[in-house]
Amino acid sequence: MTYLGIDIGTSGVKALLIDRAGRPIGEATAKSVEPVRPHPGWSEQNPADWWNATLEAIDKLSKSHPAELAEVHGLGLSGHMHGATLLDKDDNVLRPCILWNDGRSAAECLEMEAALPSLRDIAGNIAMPGFTAPKIAWVRKHEPEIFARIAKVLLPKAYIRLLLSGEHVEDMSDASGTLWLDVGKRDWSDELLNLTGLNRSHMPRLVEGSAPSAVLKREFAERWGMSGDVVIAGGAGDNAAAACGIGAIQPGEGFVSLGTSGVLFVSNDRFRPNTNGAVHAFCNAVPDTWHQMGVILSATDSLNWLSKVTGQDPAQLSGAAEAGFKGPGEEIFLPYLSGERTPHNNAHARASFTGLSHSTPPALLAQAVMEGVAFAFRDCQRVLRDAGTEMGQLLAVGGGSKSELWLKLIATNLDTEIALPEDGDFGGALGVARLGLCAAEGADPAEIMTMPGIKRVIKPDPSLRQAYADQYARYCALYPAIEEARK
Ligand code: XUL
Repeated sequence: MTYLGIDIGTSGVKALLIDRAGRPIGEATAKSVEPVRPHPGWSEQNPADWWNATLEAIDKLSKSHPAELAEVHGLGLSGHMHGATLLDKDDNVLRPCILWNDGRSAAECLEMEAALPSLRDIAGNIAMPGFTAPKIAWVRKHEPEIFARIAKVLLPKAYIRLLLSGEHVEDMSDASGTLWLDVGKRDWSDELLNLTGLNRSHMPRLVEGSAPSAVLKREFAERWGMSGDVVIAGGAGDNAAAACGIGAIQPGEGFVSLGTSGVLFVSNDRFRPNTNGAVHAFCNAVPDTWHQMGVILSATDSLNWLSKVTGQDPAQLSGAAEAGFKGPGEEIFLPYLSGERTPHNNAHARASFTGLSHSTPPALLAQAVMEGVAFAFRDCQRVLRDAGTEMGQLLAVGGGSKSELWLKLIATNLDTEIALPEDGDFGGALGVARLGLCAAEGADPAEIMTMPGIKRVIKPDPSLRQAYADQYARYCALYPAIEEARK
């Protein structure tokens, strides 16, 4: 038997095959059309692009690993969270999906919180523009003719599940990011749904991430040579999926993800909201556990932006920063290119550089960008701790974790060891392939979600501790001062 994990990212889809022991045996990727920004702060993508990329990735696996793919018994889906895929009564897509990094609904968030003062208590989260419900409130106000035709709202991976199986189903971890879920009770909230003019009929059925959700349609099973029924697991939002892939599902275990966005993720034994710090308190992908996240919207995206404006590629920039590194300098970067979620909850915040001179080279700009992202994670750690969370060693995942300097800056600023997994694939696709295995075989997630071998542990550098405490204090002082000046 084999199991397939499909991770629907904003920039592409990855399909990963594992065997019964959980070992990766093949993978394929396909690019999606990049999201478009029709206005500053907006971000949209066509759901058909995820579907085309999903088919392309699995078709590629079917060419490279036909025998192994034919043996698939369970399948799991992971996806970028929060996106609003609006469907009419015949499951036609009504408009491009408004994505997780779209900030247009800030006004609707304030209106929702004013209309339902208990919103934060029920949802365990603040109404933030990234979440799904405020996007619908925006559509209701600005595109009423589309709102009137909404029959179902699905998150990105639930839309792919619909096409693969014909069923509307969502898992608890991804549903937590809609702002329609009572996260403590693991059920839709009638009050929260009502706030945006919807009800339970607009929502998919809920299942746990490790439970069966549907069965793959015969036409796809035949296309990929699969003879038996293929069970589709509930799956997980991309962060909860990564926790399954990296084996961080026990309380206190967690990771730092240095991807397009940055995430500090810690698993919890119970529901631990801290809405004052804009902490995300969500269900985990396995039953009866929860997790918290601090989410920063531009992590490697900040270095990618610098790369665009300097014409040097990100690896070149981070390499130059590392080669000349002598500790914090005068330059400070606030990484709020798309606004910020944790801890500021401010879609209108913008990035800033301070401390530049005629002689500031790109390498020092790059260092400041990497430090700014490390400080943003330090902010996240502070508000997670305020909610009573203790975290031990954190695993590092995501493209930015290739940079040794970036990991050292994060370890030093969080005063926490950062463990770098051995080479291999421990991301969301592995996590949901494992959930597929659990759903198909009834296996115990605690036995399947093991940690990878550790290649290297990056320790905090005590010689830099004080210098970074001082620089972090300057960084913290800049945000309120700049926001005040921008008013
Ligand atoms: C989490 C979040 C991002 C997306 C990225 O709340 O918005 O991590 O899931 O894919």
